[in-house]
Amino acid sequence: MRAVASAPAKAILFGEHFVVYGKPAVATALERRVRATSTINGAGEVRVRSMLGYSRMDLGSIHDPNLYRDDPHRHIIFSAAGVMRLLERYTGVDILLESDFPYGMGLGASAATSVATIASVGSLLGRVSRDEVFRLSVEAERLVHRNPSGIDSAVCTYGGLVLFKDGRVERLDKRMYIDMHFMVVNSGIMKDTGAMVMRVKARGESSREEFASLAEMSEQLTMQALYAMGCGDRARLGELLTLNHGLLRRLGVSNGVLDGIVHALLKNGAYGAKLTGAGGGGCIISLIDRSRTPPPDALSRYETFTSGVEEQGVITEA
Ligand code: PMV
Repeated sequence: MRAVASAPAKAILFGEHFVVYGKPAVATALERRVRATSTINGAGEVRVRSMLGYSRMDLGSIHDPNLYRDDPHRHIIFSAAGVMRLLERYTGVDILLESDFPYGMGLGASAATSVATIASVGSLLGRVSRDEVFRLSVEAERLVHRNPSGIDSAVCTYGGLVLFKDGRVERLDKRMYIDMHFMVVNSGIMKDTGAMVMRVKARGESSREEFASLAEMSEQLTMQALYAMGCGDRARLGELLTLNHGLLRRLGVSNGVLDGIVHALLKNGAYGAKLTGAGGGGCIISLIDRSRTPPPDALSRYETFTSGVEEQGVITEA
């Protein structure tokens, strides 16, 4: 018995950080995936192998995440536990995770791995609906950073271009993203989402008024971006992305390396560029013209890839 499922990477285009405080955000699924293969084992354990290493936990312990809170696969073990609880089927499983995008770089690897795991273990042991995959993934994400907005799990589950607010997910109409192409640049600096979210929280508490006005601006940018998408106005959308980067700089989550990559992309023909996700490191997302991709030598120090909007979200493969 073997079941395979995969889920896409994601990038937040507008609204990161402020989405934690109930403001809207827009994110896209990307054409990079993580695959989870699960098989039943007779050992009475959940065993996980990925590029982060190897973990094992006996079935009697998987429902208490305190017992494995320092394990790099804690969200995966807890995802498997969630499926078993839902389906009321408890059995040892081996889970193998293979990803074609980097971990810890703001591309949603932790949500994508939990989404793919839930779908894979779900189809191994029974059936789990997409909405259940989303819900269980948000629960698992809480183990990675305490107060996730849920946007990563939403995009990795449903795919496409997603508007997210207060836990509500709206998949935007396909006409909004015809011909939208991105270049993703990996700064190579690992980021720590939990630490950045805490830093922003402290900032909000120490300068309330400034934080409220930045949050207001973030919402305005998101609304204007939806309008620009509706009109197919890529030049305006790019401008709004770059403005959003400026806003995140003001919030204190950018740095010289990220600013330098944004600058290089803009100089080489991108419509716009910004850091994506928590910041402090991770990736830059830029909107580009498919026929005018920035020349590789402009960014030769960094890993890059291009992508359109991925449409499928999580899929069960076999
Ligand atoms: O960098 P990532 O992929 O972990 O994205 C974090 C996004 C935040 O808005 C900063 C936090 C959240 O839970 O939405």
